Amino acid sequence: MKRIGVLTSGGDAPGMNATVRAVVRSAQQNDMSVVGFKRGYNGVLMRSSQQSDDFAMLTARSVSDKIHRGGTFLMTARCLEFKQREYQELAVQNLKHLGVEGLVCIGGDGTFHGANALHELGFPVVCIPGTIDNDLDYTEVTIGFDTALNTACDCVNKIRETSDSHERASIITVMGRNCGDIAVSTALACGAEVVVIPEKPWTVEELADQVRWGVMKGKRSMIMVFAEGAIHSLQSDVSAICSRYESLSDVSVKHLTSSQIAMMIEALSGHETRATVLGYTQRGGSPTAADRILASRLGAFAVHLLKEDKSGLAVGLRKGELIADPIGKAMHGRSQADEELLSLINELS
Ligand code: ADP
Ligand code: F6P
Repeated sequence: MKRIGVLTSGGDAPGMNATVRAVVRSAQQNDMSVVGFKRGYNGVLMRSSQQSDDFAMLTARSVSDKIHRGGTFLMTARCLEFKQREYQELAVQNLKHLGVEGLVCIGGDGTFHGANALHELGFPVVCIPGTIDNDLDYTEVTIGFDTALNTACDCVNKIRETSDSHERASIITVMGRNCGDIAVSTALACGAEVVVIPEKPWTVEELADQVRWGVMKGKRSMIMVFAEGAIHSLQSDVSAICSRYESLSDVSVKHLTSSQIAMMIEALSGHETRATVLGYTQRGGSPTAADRILASRLGAFAVHLLKEDKSGLAVGLRKGELIADPIGKAMHGRSQADEELLSLINELS
């Protein structure tokens, strides 16, 4: 292979720049040139009015001063048309037209689905897991997860200080889509009292009991870390709870927010409870050393595989070792939470 392409797709993740840097530098060492496609699969479909806005040749100098930067300089975007076969065929045609013989796709499970479609059309592809969610089962960690976790921990520490001063309970909602990994790790690392995740059923009543019990044990603050997807595993009859309390008359049962859950816990426990949604702060920021190292290892490994004409693979880490699994197997999300970590949170709270 003499020329490969690289793109970042889906939600951005700290460490994507470090990954692109590793791909470009490793390709150069292996006598391959690199085309960087912009805005995920949109760049490959060449949707901009100017080609320079869709792709650019990347040299070792293009990726200078990038390893420590958050975001992705190639930019990222969703491209829903890419789910259709005609657009996937157009992508293969465009890639071949540019002399690109293999593609490195950096992103989450959606990005992997797109890459798998190209692989099934006979185009060589290797995927790298870049998502803060850590929701891919085949690899023990994804690029961006460690940075997002550290950002979340930093925020929780700050919220704990004000919660402690005011003797309040706090709900802190973290990202993760349908996966509770960011929530579980944040809760353990911050000594949270409670973690609520989509993988486990929960009720508002149980949480209110835990807050009451914490107050009885003399806790000044109670930290409850919520995964954003946890709303789907709520088992309470919210309408029945709201009908019992005047303070809950405005709660929108269909579109429950973290603040409304906090209001319910406050009504049931009698203890002041506030909510904070951490949001996009978790996706930004300079990647941690762990994410930079992971990005460098996976980026170079992906290039080595393409160089050896191995494709249709997703690279990752298992027991600290580099692995490469078929994309079709790797693109499945994680459905089970880490029971050991969950019981540890409980034991230590
Ligand atoms: P992530 O890669 O972080 O999971 P998304 O789920 O938004 O993010 O997917 C990113 C992009 O991958 C989508 O905008 C689309 O271009 C492509 N994609 C997602 N699902 C598919 C699919 N089933 N087939 C082909 N391409 C897909
Ligand atoms: O997949 C990463 C992620 O940040 C999820 O945690 C979150 O649910 C989603 O992306 C948000 O996506 P958007 O950037 O489209 O709002």
